[in-house]
Amino acid sequence: MKVVVLTGAGISAESGLPTFRDADGLWEGHDPMAVATPEAFADDPDLVQRFYDERRAALARVEPNAAHVALARLEERLGEDLHLVTQNIDDLHERGGSTRVHHMHGRLRAAWCTTCDHRHEWTTTLVDRPACPTCGHSTLRPDVVWFGEVPHDMDAVQRALFECDLFVAIGTSGLVYPAAAFVHYAIGAGADTLELNLAPDPVSDFAQVRQGPATRTVPAWVAEMLA
Ligand code: APR
Repeated sequence: MKVVVLTGAGISAESGLPTFRDADGLWEGHDPMAVATPEAFADDPDLVQRFYDERRAALARVEPNAAHVALARLEERLGEDLHLVTQNIDDLHERGGSTRVHHMHGRLRAAWCTTCDHRHEWTTTLVDRPACPTCGHSTLRPDVVWFGEVPHDMDAVQRALFECDLFVAIGTSGLVYPAAAFVHYAIGAGADTLELNLAPDPVSDFAQVRQGPATRTVPAWVAEMLA
């Protein structure tokens, strides 16, 4: 069975990382347009770098949870028949054991040099404008996809969606495109669809919806898949 799993901020919430749009979410105190657009970065690079430096520091203080670990077990069983696609810029899927993750919104622990186009693993700050290890220019930015930029890996993700038998969305509000359209591509491909969310949308397009915290619903669903 070919499976595509899409994850959002809700899967990392119980690890201690805030979501974006829930109460106390990251966007509650921030205008996303002021920290997560190329225009914001051009206007006030220090503000944007500081915002992502804080996110990177917070990531170092948290651990993957049972939902991340369960998806790694599913990868062990399904191998290349599982496509794990995440909107999250954290690395909790990898630290939970997943080895093949499509990070469509990029990665917090990577820096991208806009001069030489090289990407580097990055665990410290960027606000001090460190030199790019490749070209020496101080033009590193977080390797994350901002509003108005093109998500990564979309060709591979589209192919996987058109071929899948089952599409599962976990912990995402389904408000941000292109990920919000994935369920429709999967339905168009004839796949079954399942949503695992703390508070599912009552007008959801998903065939099946299971409500509850990811650390409960994801291991339970994976156990069914492995049975
Ligand atoms: N278990 C399961 N689901 C949860 C949990 C939990 N413990 N806690 C919260 N959720 C759900 C919420 O009900 C909500 O549907 O997670 C979802 C979080 O939604 P958002 O905050 O909108 O996060 P996400 O869908 O990942 O946002 C998409 O928007 O701002 C951009 O680039 C950012 O990647 C992000 C994208």
